[in-house]
Amino acid sequence: MRNDAIDPNELPGEGDELSLRPRFLREFIGQEQLKGNLNVFIEAARQRSEPMDHVLLYGPPGLGKTTLAHIIANEMGAPIHVTSGPAIVKPGDLVGILTNLEEGAVLFIDEIHRLGRVVEEYLYPAMEDRKVDIMIGEGPAARSVRMEVPAFTVIGATTRQGLLTGPLRDRFGIISHFQYYQEKALFEIVKRSANILGYTIANDGAEEIARRSRGTPRIANRLLRRVRDFAQVDDLPEIHQPIVQKAALALEIDHIGLDRVDRTMLKMIIERHGGGPVGIETIAASTGEDRQTIEDVYEPYLLQIGLLQRTPQGRCVTDFAYKHLQMMRKDRPEL
Ligand SMILES: Nc1ncnc2c1ncn2[C@@H]1O[C@H](COP(=O)(O)OP(=O)(O)OP(=O)(O)O)[C@@H](O)[C@H]1O
Ligand SMILES: [Mg+2]
Repeated sequence: MRNDAIDPNELPGEGDELSLRPRFLREFIGQEQLKGNLNVFIEAARQRSEPMDHVLLYGPPGLGKTTLAHIIANEMGAPIHVTSGPAIVKPGDLVGILTNLEEGAVLFIDEIHRLGRVVEEYLYPAMEDRKVDIMIGEGPAARSVRMEVPAFTVIGATTRQGLLTGPLRDRFGIISHFQYYQEKALFEIVKRSANILGYTIANDGAEEIARRSRGTPRIANRLLRRVRDFAQVDDLPEIHQPIVQKAALALEIDHIGLDRVDRTMLKMIIERHGGGPVGIETIAASTGEDRQTIEDVYEPYLLQIGLLQRTPQGRCVTDFAYKHLQMMRKDRPEL
């Protein structure tokens, strides 16, 4: 069974995520370097009264790519059109979108790594020279005509930069790489969200949520809501550390934010493969998760906090993982 509480993907019914979404750069917490750079590029484009260069936002789910795309449009005072790689099926779909853009508009393409190759070919001249080829007529009489499109900015979002073709990646002047959030930033995000939702939370409660949120604002916000449910049923007017711990225990989120799937994965590598190295396909098969979910969601965080290591032969768990799971290394029992 999946543990929804810790799924960094947006789940149906998270409607008030909208109200939690920061609308301006100054409300966007954390990602200081990325934010600082974008601030300069936005300001410079604004001073020149030009649209911004094309931006690629890259990072794991739930870190704020969609949020930031809307912020950029908002800061530029530009209308935003939202679409996604899989939604643009035919070149005609893309041409339709491009020819209907207002001058200076932002075109947000989510999951841009899933754009079809043929569609991509149509996007290149539009991004580079603001030209698009359209086909007029049918059959042997068909001919291609170049058309101008308005000046616009593509903001592409992807969880998998590696799946982008070189030519597409090269057409982005700005590539912003999201990092998992520091606890300090998550703390601020939890405080801000609690405030918007009208919950009272003490610092020790917000810190505990921040610690258990896998470096991910979406998880922090979701955990905050679940903790609120527990607090409400227990008739607690304020969220403190103990109720966070109680809720996390019930949701099987441990003190460093790992969920059952994370732990199963690590244990499986230890018990069945002597700690690794083991290939991603094998991990997928033995955990019942699909490969992409493991690569996009689970693995990056485990790598980041040093529980897992990537080697040319496959994935290995680290000493820290043995320690965290309180398991013994059979090859080096002294550890
Ligand atoms: N820097 C931030 N400050 C405050 N809240 C944030 C921040 N980043 C993200 N959030 C919150 O986290 C939620 C998830 O962010 P968002 O939907 O932008 O992630 P994403 O990177 O687009 O994820 P996906 O890859 O699943 O599309 C948002 O609804 C927003 O409330
Ligand atoms: Mg998104």
